[in-house]
Amino acid sequence: MEADDLGADDLGPWGGDWLDPKEHVAVELEAGRRRSLDLLAPLDDGQLLRQHSPLMSPLAWDLAHVGNYEDLWLVRALGGSPVGPHHDRLYDAFRNPRADRPSLPMLGPDGARAYLAEVRGRALDLLERREWDPADGLLRAGFVYGMVLQHEHQHDETMLATLQLMASPGYRPPSGGPRSSEQGGVPVGPEEVLVEGGPFVMGTDSDAWAYDNERPAYVVDLGPFRIDTHPTTNAAYLEFVEAGGYRERCWWSEAGWAWRTEAGLEHPGTWRRHGRGAWTHDRFGWEEDLPGEEPVQHVCWYEAEAYAHWRGRRLPTEAEWEKAASWDPGLGAKRRFPWGDGAPTPARANLGQRRFGPAPRGSLPEGASAYGCQQMVGDVWEWTSSDFRPHPGFRAFPYREYSEVFWGSDYKVLRGGSWATHPSAVRTTFRNWDYPIRRQIFAGLRCARDA
Ligand code: AVJ
Ligand code: FE
Repeated sequence: MEADDLGADDLGPWGGDWLDPKEHVAVELEAGRRRSLDLLAPLDDGQLLRQHSPLMSPLAWDLAHVGNYEDLWLVRALGGSPVGPHHDRLYDAFRNPRADRPSLPMLGPDGARAYLAEVRGRALDLLERREWDPADGLLRAGFVYGMVLQHEHQHDETMLATLQLMASPGYRPPSGGPRSSEQGGVPVGPEEVLVEGGPFVMGTDSDAWAYDNERPAYVVDLGPFRIDTHPTTNAAYLEFVEAGGYRERCWWSEAGWAWRTEAGLEHPGTWRRHGRGAWTHDRFGWEEDLPGEEPVQHVCWYEAEAYAHWRGRRLPTEAEWEKAASWDPGLGAKRRFPWGDGAPTPARANLGQRRFGPAPRGSLPEGASAYGCQQMVGDVWEWTSSDFRPHPGFRAFPYREYSEVFWGSDYKVLRGGSWATHPSAVRTTFRNWDYPIRRQIFAGLRCARDA
């Protein structure tokens, strides 16, 4: 299927394999809710109300915020009577910076769960009653349902980042202990691929559940470049650490060096050194030997940039990343995922916290892009060199605070999703962004260079 076949009436996230789109939405909403509640089920009320890091919300705030967003968009915006309008102020992310959230008069965990359930009941009722008028931007192809579903999944990933930061004892996911890491040797192929110069289509006009910042599609003409087949592994990054890369000014940008010095960065966030050459890392409060073949994560943009320079490489631009991930040069067509337009499967991409960590390099050859890049979707978010800026012709929809208020050089773009990202909240056009100092997200990198 070519990108053009994904008409504007197709239902996200995976196209038209569902006979009844409303049933599809109901099933996805329920699965999303199960994910949220299951993730938090192992925690007691104290753990849900405490702030585990000033960078993150108390988990009970995230949970009720998810319900409030659904109250706003799947109930009120669709003409229903609000469930908790008195909660709007408290759960507005802009009016309550994360650092202030623990002192808010939040709903307790039981109150939050009851609020979510009540909102959901009303939302499902409206799902049945409201027709999806193609002239209505919110309801066309069920857009607003995709938006709210992706919102909940994005907060689930944020909650996973909080759980990773949570002090011991280690988090035990509902399905058992944290997955351990390495599988045996996998053939990995060439280290990098060539992406020849020429135009490709960036962004999308046709993906019904894409966010405003992924639109519109436009042609970008790029010079030739080479890009790594795999994300940078822990073993590769360790060479930089052991070679003293954190102490050598020359690999770092001015802002990066200032931050490295101020924050005392010496290695990725979760690593620990035990004497000469022995390294462990922390996976959800459990200490493990550093898994060399897994993509490195919990590095900030400055560290990613410094590592790439040390290797004689650079970060790809956002456009380079998207071309390497989505363009089929044979057909001159764009793919929704690196492997094509088919749904993500466990053999194609490591998503949805199946492993509670990235998969070893080379373990997902079926997920390769047309150019041969692997693990572009899933495993780790990949820092790009680009600032977060609008595609030409951008129009904010349905509200400015999703994307527009973040444009500018304060934020760097990340692509591809992580092992903690849900399949419905990622595609080759999906754009994430964060400050260049942030390390708590499941982010790593992939190196590129001029050809
Ligand atoms: C797209 C991940 C940067 O978490 O700030 C959640 C997603 N927007 N609630 C964020 C989001 C509103 C957003 N990111
Ligand atoms: Fe939110």
